[in-house]
Amino acid sequence: MPTIAIVGAGPGLGLSVGRVFGEQGYEVALIARTTSTLDELVARLAEDGVAAAGYPADIMDRPSLVGAFKEIAANHEPVEVLEYSPAPRGPQPGLVLAGPLDVSVANVQPHIDFYVHGAITATGQVLPDMIERGTGTLLYTTGPSSVAPSAALGNVGIACAALRNWVLNLHDALAGKGVYAAHVSLSVDAEQADPDRLAPYYWQIHSRGEGSEHLLSEVLRAGRRSDPET
Ligand SMILES: NC(=O)c1ccc[n+]([C@@H]2O[C@H](COP(=O)([O-])OP(=O)(O)OC[C@H]3O[C@@H](n4cnc5c(N)ncnc54)[C@H](OP(=O)(O)O)[C@@H]3O)[C@@H](O)[C@H]2O)c1
Repeated sequence: MPTIAIVGAGPGLGLSVGRVFGEQGYEVALIARTTSTLDELVARLAEDGVAAAGYPADIMDRPSLVGAFKEIAANHEPVEVLEYSPAPRGPQPGLVLAGPLDVSVANVQPHIDFYVHGAITATGQVLPDMIERGTGTLLYTTGPSSVAPSAALGNVGIACAALRNWVLNLHDALAGKGVYAAHVSLSVDAEQADPDRLAPYYWQIHSRGEGSEHLLSEVLRAGRRSDPET
């Protein structure tokens, strides 16, 4: 059974993406900080017949993230899909919002740690093996500020744009190696943000393996609103 590792797995997108890939025959490895939430997600996926396991780790604590991937490697088949979509649900030390005039090294650094260093660390745990096997998918999700500057997200946008920049380069650098990397930008209103509606696009993006970037807001706005085939 192939494995999808979801970094930053919560009851929203993480659960829905896990369910969609699980229904396609994947084992689901969920990474987040809160063990009780992970247990709930594993139980909810089990109700749907999806085999999942939780691996508590904090992406701001890189040794813990590396440790989670070591456990995943010990317990599952190789990771075929990495999906990186952590989202702060509630206050997190250092992760504050700042507008352009208030941006400082101090309030940007934690977002760089969260979005960029976390993604680089997670990728480093799976990419060498993917390249050796000649197969794999790397998907990285950010909100709209990665693509369209937003004054309210002056500091977060710097980090999300940096992650996007790296992923677009990664996509090109992996050409011909059998490994697919793409950035997914979610910029959607509350109705469209229904994670059960968004998750099938992740399966479609993975299974097609085309394009370095997927702007789901545009997909939804363009009238292609019917669910993708799964
Ligand atoms: N309007 C929009 O554009 C829009 C709307 C919705 C979502 N999004 C994007 O969609 C993605 C997913 O959002 P979601 O809320 O639906 O996700 P989710 O899968 O419901 O939750 C994400 C999980 O990330 C985990 N997390 C937070 N900080 C972490 C850390 N330091 N280390 C490890 N895990 C951590 C949290 O669990 P713990 O607290 O247990 O660690 C949280 O439950 C994000 O990239 C978000 O920006 C965008």
